[in-house]
Amino acid sequence: MIQIPEQNHVREFRVFLDACGYNTEQLTQRIGRARPPAAGEEQQMFDDSRQITTLNVLVRLFLLGAPVDKSTVDEFLPDVVAEFCHDAGLLQSDGDIINARVVIIPVDDLLFASDAFRILGTEEAQNFVLPASTHSANFLRLLTMQDRVDDTLDLGCGCGIHALFAARHSARVVATDISPHAIAYTRFNALLNDINNVECIEGSLFEPVTGQQFDLIISNPPFVISPSESFVYRDNAMELDEFCKMLVGEAPRHLKEGAHLQMLCEWVEVENEAWVDRISGWIRGCDAWVLHAAPLSPAAYAQQRTGDLSGESVNAGVASEWTAYFERHKVRAIHPGMLALRRRDGTNWLHVQNLPADVTQPAGNAVLAGIAAVDFLEACDDSALLAATLGLASDLMAEQAPPSDDVVGVRLRLNNGLSAEADIDGAVAAFINLFNSERTVGDCVSEFAKVADAEAAQLTRDLLAIVRVFVSRGFLAPLDLE
Ligand SMILES: C[S@@+](CC[C@H](N)C(=O)[O-])C[C@H]1O[C@@H](n2cnc3c(N)ncnc32)[C@H](O)[C@@H]1O
Repeated sequence: MIQIPEQNHVREFRVFLDACGYNTEQLTQRIGRARPPAAGEEQQMFDDSRQITTLNVLVRLFLLGAPVDKSTVDEFLPDVVAEFCHDAGLLQSDGDIINARVVIIPVDDLLFASDAFRILGTEEAQNFVLPASTHSANFLRLLTMQDRVDDTLDLGCGCGIHALFAARHSARVVATDISPHAIAYTRFNALLNDINNVECIEGSLFEPVTGQQFDLIISNPPFVISPSESFVYRDNAMELDEFCKMLVGEAPRHLKEGAHLQMLCEWVEVENEAWVDRISGWIRGCDAWVLHAAPLSPAAYAQQRTGDLSGESVNAGVASEWTAYFERHKVRAIHPGMLALRRRDGTNWLHVQNLPADVTQPAGNAVLAGIAAVDFLEACDDSALLAATLGLASDLMAEQAPPSDDVVGVRLRLNNGLSAEADIDGAVAAFINLFNSERTVGDCVSEFAKVADAEAAQLTRDLLAIVRVFVSRGFLAPLDLE
């Protein structure tokens, strides 16, 4: 396990990494990426780091995970740095060869140490601590709300990616994990990034924070729905999606009134149950805004998850065991998504928003705007909606949609991090264009009715349904929400 060194020694190590250009910008510039190589990229990265410089020695050790001769390490790493790396458990000697036991990954301007991928091929694989470069970690990071708050909890902190970013907009962060290895990495990474408002506590689920309430809970839990318990970072001992159900069930007790939980989640659709009923049955005392990604068939899911990891001693199970497990439990599909809950007394709502494309830019504000939009719609009956004044979102773009069924339409796209989009026909485009932040919805409906050939009451109902969808997706916004 990584050792927690004295703060001033970690600082010296960080100063050395910074001085060598071990950061997102310079690594991207010099070797094309600031993360470990994806499958098939190893040789390219090896070639790109062939010139022997201090930065490339660090790249080979801490990104590529390649062995480096002791003589090269001695030549390029100052003694005090090499000694620190050995003492902290970042490097290990094997005769004349030095291997890194960790990867060190820059994310924005922070650095995160975690287990090196080669651990997956050893008997330590079960306790593997996930690197900060994974898709799930960065998907949740980009979706996280950035409002300033007092207390944040990162449940299942791993290497601490969410805890450390949240430390920037929280007075205090508590990072918890069942794995002592994960807790050690989060502590180490807090020191490496000179962040001192993160408290790390080992324990399962909410047990380490009994009796405490938070303004924001972030969690990328071990949500994979598997018949195996091979890896603490992704599997859990509970049947199907019961782990996420338990987390969602317990969370409201740890949320202040009006506070949010954001978590990644996968849940099953079983025979004779609508998938949305399954998750709505988990939620008590909270509004729920669900960002829903495309579901997978059991076969596709089994293929994807068992192929996630490979290596001789990595036992992710074989796909047929997974499909048999799903068949036994009458699972028809697996649904991935991000759940944003807000604790609120009163009658709660649940809204599902489809995820059209991957999230590649910060989108925390878009999540908050989505929640505010649903609040607005819930508070508006049809007559209140007709009296409301709406405008087109300032970052809305319209382009010609790819033709379908010979209809030439318009594609609306919102550049808000969630990339909401919709293809609409010419008539709906003409209606939407009437919204100018001055007309009420009723004015727009009347204006449109002058040219539409439809029965008035039905037309109003149809147009209000369109307005509701467009407000919920952020294309149209009440003036005070824009
Ligand atoms: C998918 S990883 C996410 C790690 C990190 N937050 C990230 O996004 O990269 C899930 C984490 O949950 C932890 N975990 C597993 N079971 C847990 C439990 N019962 N209570 C708390 N944490 C748990 C694992 O050790 C692992 O670090």
